[in-house]
Amino acid sequence: MSDFIIEGGYQLSGKLPVAGAKNLALKAIAASLLSKDDMDLVNVPEIEDVKRQFEILERLGASVNKLAKGVYKVNTSKVSSGLMPRDLVNKLRASTVLTGPLLARFGEVELSHPGGCKIGRRPIDLFLKGFQSLGVEVTETKDLTYKLRAKKLKGGIIVFPKISVTGTETMMLAGVLADGFTKLINAALEPEIVALANYLNSQGARISGAGTPIINIEGVKELGAGEFIMMPDRIEAGTFIMLALATNSQITVTNCQPEHLEVPLSVWRDMGAEFDISQNEILVKHWKNLRAVDIKTHEYPGFVTDMQSSMTVLLTQATGHSLVHETIFEGRLFFTDVLNQMGADITLCDPHRVIIQGPRQLEGRTIEAPDARAGLALLTAALAAKGKSIIKNVYPIDRGYEFLEERLKNIGASIMRV
Ligand code: EPU
Repeated sequence: MSDFIIEGGYQLSGKLPVAGAKNLALKAIAASLLSKDDMDLVNVPEIEDVKRQFEILERLGASVNKLAKGVYKVNTSKVSSGLMPRDLVNKLRASTVLTGPLLARFGEVELSHPGGCKIGRRPIDLFLKGFQSLGVEVTETKDLTYKLRAKKLKGGIIVFPKISVTGTETMMLAGVLADGFTKLINAALEPEIVALANYLNSQGARISGAGTPIINIEGVKELGAGEFIMMPDRIEAGTFIMLALATNSQITVTNCQPEHLEVPLSVWRDMGAEFDISQNEILVKHWKNLRAVDIKTHEYPGFVTDMQSSMTVLLTQATGHSLVHETIFEGRLFFTDVLNQMGADITLCDPHRVIIQGPRQLEGRTIEAPDARAGLALLTAALAAKGKSIIKNVYPIDRGYEFLEERLKNIGASIMRV
């Protein structure tokens, strides 16, 4: 296990490139199961979650060849069953997405309750209900293993009472090879879902409406496979902007898609920040005297929950009272305890809301990374703080961000992995 040692309180400057989107790559890997042809995945982030998802695929019998940094050739023609390895499924939530294509291909999947970042309850009831709408018989055993069976998936209407990103993706992947039409109602709108649908359509799928609340899928007999280039990670891009703002630094975030960040950019502008934006770069230009704002996390295109923890850190540096309302997960504000130990003034009203009084000078501490997003938020706090911080066990950060210390050193950060 590695730790980071950080000397904070310095201004940073330069270019910070964004990696490929984690939450697209994990689903692209699942999509490889829908075809027996070779699939080329490009701009894949070199992160622990991606490694685990590839490992699941390999345990199922697939071949995964790394051709260069971020470039993989995958072939799943030798996969012969949908028995998912419990030890790996327990490690990441995105493993659930594999169930859609596995069911479409083998009609039988055994899945233990998936693990993942400890950010809330994370049930899978919407998945189970969705599969039932596609004619799947679901049996649950006492040890939280789910047996899913269907001779052949049948198209159906799936209504999501609550918006779910991986739920939408899993049902879309399942519907592609099902018999007949599938309709998803109240689907999630994330750009990664649109990218996944575009790739599947380029290989013969018939999906329309991705990026809107209603997705229609006309089942096809088989699918090809080809090149799938991951879009830039919008969460990482936004997180780097907040890192620049929290450390009073002039940084250009490169390789990003600014159009995926419209809502957070408008919130940061309301705080007093200014940006120069070009097609795929954002220069964080003006960062002094930031003002407090209230935010409420929301499904895309709203203020994304995955940026909430860095936003909470940033608001400790803004003048005034801010209210952060985390509406999606009930465990994503507990890390504010650690921020208070670093000198922040944050009141936890309930698991979903905190009030932040800023600005406060943060002081370096020895801390732990609770999950990928709060981990990076605490790293941002450590870079903004006076003095030395040690982040113990940075595995949760490595789950979501590639070569972080190299990239941060390139903009002048004092960070060392030990
Ligand atoms: N929910 C249910 N039942 C379900 C599924 C979800 O009640 O069967 C609830 C969840 O508890 C939550 C809400 O629905 O309150 C939304 O959860 P969603 O299913 O959308 O989350 P997810 O698909 O498990 C993905 C991302 C998360 C991101 C959320 C929200 C992946 C692999 N994960 O999770 O990303 O926070 O959408 O945008 O795509 C991260 O990258 O660090 C991360 C946690």
